[in-house]
Amino acid sequence: MAQYSDEELLSAAREAAANAYAPYSSFPVGAAVWPGEGQPVFLGCNVENAAYGEAICAERNAVTTMVAQGIRQVDTVAVIGLKAHPCYPCGACRQVLREFGCRRVVVEGPDGRPVAHDFSELLPYSFGPDALSGV
Ligand code: THU
Repeated sequence: MAQYSDEELLSAAREAAANAYAPYSSFPVGAAVWPGEGQPVFLGCNVENAAYGEAICAERNAVTTMVAQGIRQVDTVAVIGLKAHPCYPCGACRQVLREFGCRRVVVEGPDGRPVAHDFSELLPYSFGPDALSGV
């Protein structure tokens, strides 16, 4: 069964960040999404565009890649910004991670070590699929 440590997830995110296409911001970001026990890790990097508003964040890139493989759950996401330690997911990415039940967020602390948060710390009182079914 595949089980990944926070260090391994951050390391995978760092590898993804190396592929970032960020010529406009020069702010490369990588994300590693782990769906849970027995599942592989899905990677994403930010992909910018000459039409600036069309940039895709690393986290959403990783999540949509995961969904395209038929998986719809997130246990942990690790995020690395090569120029910011820590680099937390933006608001839009938090909402997309919420959709798939993200439980934990791991970022790189200033000392290079993983810092883990419960997802509810990053998006308390969130709006999710359950709200639409009246639960
Ligand atoms: N970025 C991400 O990839 N993830 C985030 O959560 C924050 C921002 C990217 C978007 C853009 O390409 C660059 O970082 C600067 O905002």
